[in-house]
Amino acid sequence: MAQYPEDVQKMLGVLLEHNEWRRRQTINLIAAENVMSPLAELVYLNDLMGRYAEGSVGRRYYRGTRYVDLLEEALSKSFAEILGAKYVDVRPISGTIANLATYYGLAPEGGTIASLPTRAGGHISHNQVGGPKALKFKVLELPWDPDAFNIDVDKARRLIEENRPNIVILGGSLYLFPHPIKEISEAAHAVSSYVLHDSAHVFGLVVGGKFPNPLREGADVTTSSTHKTFPGPQGGLIASALEGEVNESIARGVFPVFTSNYHMHRYAATYVTLAEMRQFGAQYAEQIVRNAKALAEALHANGFDVVAEHLGFTQTHQVAVDVSKLGGGEAVSKLLEDANIIVNKNMLPWDKSAVKPSGIRLGVQEVTRWGMREGDMAEIAGFFKELLIDGKEPGQVRRKVVEFRSQFLEVKYGYGVDGELARRLLGSMGLTL
Ligand SMILES: Cc1ncc(COP(=O)(O)O)c(C=O)c1O
Repeated sequence: MAQYPEDVQKMLGVLLEHNEWRRRQTINLIAAENVMSPLAELVYLNDLMGRYAEGSVGRRYYRGTRYVDLLEEALSKSFAEILGAKYVDVRPISGTIANLATYYGLAPEGGTIASLPTRAGGHISHNQVGGPKALKFKVLELPWDPDAFNIDVDKARRLIEENRPNIVILGGSLYLFPHPIKEISEAAHAVSSYVLHDSAHVFGLVVGGKFPNPLREGADVTTSSTHKTFPGPQGGLIASALEGEVNESIARGVFPVFTSNYHMHRYAATYVTLAEMRQFGAQYAEQIVRNAKALAEALHANGFDVVAEHLGFTQTHQVAVDVSKLGGGEAVSKLLEDANIIVNKNMLPWDKSAVKPSGIRLGVQEVTRWGMREGDMAEIAGFFKELLIDGKEPGQVRRKVVEFRSQFLEVKYGYGVDGELARRLLGSMGLTL
């Protein structure tokens, strides 16, 4: 690296250290993250990272987009087939943008939406702290049933009948059990409200067949990120079961309202990921749910206050742990990071303040991709116990974590890279090694 200026060398060093730490030395349990397959990562590096294609397939404002059209069309078509959607838009660059564009298409400025508050799993983009404020929406809170750890269906029905919101938003960031999409959709449709299911967290489980497909359950639209349980590059999508004009309004929400460039270098990698999910998705999704249950059970057996024991803990990739007796989410997540276990602090439905969340949220989708299985979840739960209950030094636990992690350095459930292809792809960019 000596040929580069000193500050650049320093920055490159930081990047190399980051890669080594997060890819090879840490157990990543952030429920919103994942790693792509080697092939998807290779094709992510392409010329489209510097291009524009404003507009939509066949109707671009820029020239030079003939191959973009092929990629965008093939990707949208494949998602539409797999989800049974009438319209798919893969241009949103993130789940948040997908949500905002959909709101724009389905509700007038100043309209009303009903959604869960963040403490009960609603995402910030479903609430007044996020995009709905910018669209001047009135936000109604969907009622929560603490015993069912889910939306209270009867109360929600009444709220929808009385207030006739433009959109009812289901799905969430803390999402242990499928929301009652069917029941809420019936109530919403009876008063001409739209139902949007935000599948960002569970999209890989939907595609892998381990979580109900929201469009088949009655939701009008589902939005998602393409990089959480669905292990593609960071991006977003909208899939609509609606027909006609309204999809054009949603499309206008994507362009020109909320984006003008779509980060199109992700399309090929997203396509590769979708093909991998068609081939390996059922196996991957099945293992995720098994691992989540195994982790929850092992943590519970080790003395942790794992949320929703009476419901079997979880039906997704997530596990929620109430760590208020251990110092709260902030302190516990910091201690875990010191031992190379990466998690986030999280509000739980009974929390009063977002500043001091009492929980941590764990997701097993990435460790599943690194090849971990139920027995490995018990080992991870053991590290939690040594650190947080037995009070061992973080450095001592960290050494064990690094050794444990070194057994899992290859991404499963995806395609590898063939050397000839790598040379051709890099060569097509003018990059020779
Ligand atoms: C339920 C939900 N929706 C949307 C998003 C936003 O997705 P993105 O980060 O792709 O904008 C998140 C992010 O974690 C989420 O949890």
